[in-house]
Amino acid sequence: MNIITNNEALREQIRQYKQSGKSIGFVPTMGYLHEGHLSLIEEARKNHDIVVLSIFVNPLQFGPNEDFERYPRDAERDRKLAEHAGVDLLFMPVVDEIYPTGLSVTMLVKERVDVMCGRKREGHFDGVVTVLTKLFHLVQPDSAYFGMKDAQQVAVVEGLVQDYFFPIEIVRVPTIREEDGLAKSSRNVYLSPQERREAPILFKSLQLAKGLVERGHLKRDSIIRKVTELIHDETSGTVDYVEIYSFPQMVPVEPLQGDIIIALAVQFDKARLIDNMIISLGKKESQHV
Ligand code: PAJ
Repeated sequence: MNIITNNEALREQIRQYKQSGKSIGFVPTMGYLHEGHLSLIEEARKNHDIVVLSIFVNPLQFGPNEDFERYPRDAERDRKLAEHAGVDLLFMPVVDEIYPTGLSVTMLVKERVDVMCGRKREGHFDGVVTVLTKLFHLVQPDSAYFGMKDAQQVAVVEGLVQDYFFPIEIVRVPTIREEDGLAKSSRNVYLSPQERREAPILFKSLQLAKGLVERGHLKRDSIIRKVTELIHDETSGTVDYVEIYSFPQMVPVEPLQGDIIIALAVQFDKARLIDNMIISLGKKESQHV
């Protein structure tokens, strides 16, 4: 595995891949790799000659009171996992490499962000599209792989690529979960043992919602209320939001129809967990990811 930390060396390597006609699959991450990230790498591995993984904790997507400083990092472990997963090129730049100067042009996401995490984390998705624009230009991948764990991110990135004609296919990869249903996340390490025992309720509440919707309960408010109550009654966390929209447009639909997303965020003592489920209505079988 080739490990590169600066843009010039990366550009040179990418030039060589392109010259020899290799297709490139790109998996952008912030590291502290777990099976969720590894499933994106695996998917990319299936479809491309070359898999590029980036690990960069992007300061621009963290709010002033968020966990940029204490976001978990373990470069040595990540290197081993990446190598083992079959990554060809690991790009691990320092902050100055990606943001050498202030930005003379900034990006502002206008749609799909005034809901869910976007509303709660002002400027977060502006930071995400900024770093991805930089990384996409450096890596020039044929496809980029994103987890449905962060479904709103997928919706925003699909908008970016569409609006600005990036010649990149965005591939949606289903959420990888622990055996008890908890979505894998780098932030799960912040849960206390008690909170960890409670956390699978989040997925259970989404399954409850899915069951209700499938049985024809198509009123948003009552589903949102039931999910909120379950989490409130059975965990020590505070419900940040439970919301339902069309996906990927992220607009309210009533009665529920088409592809919809049920998404939630719950604040525990030191960790804020998110989860979601996509339900396709009007098709023979609903599916969730
Ligand atoms: P990060 O949180 O490290 O996630 C990197 C990718 O892994 C994202 O596409 C995310 O959706 C995916 N992922 C995380 N947990 C997953 C799980 N349990 N199952 C499937 N996929 C999972 O998302 C970011 O980094 C950043 O915002 C980034 C896109 C790298 C831009 O800085």
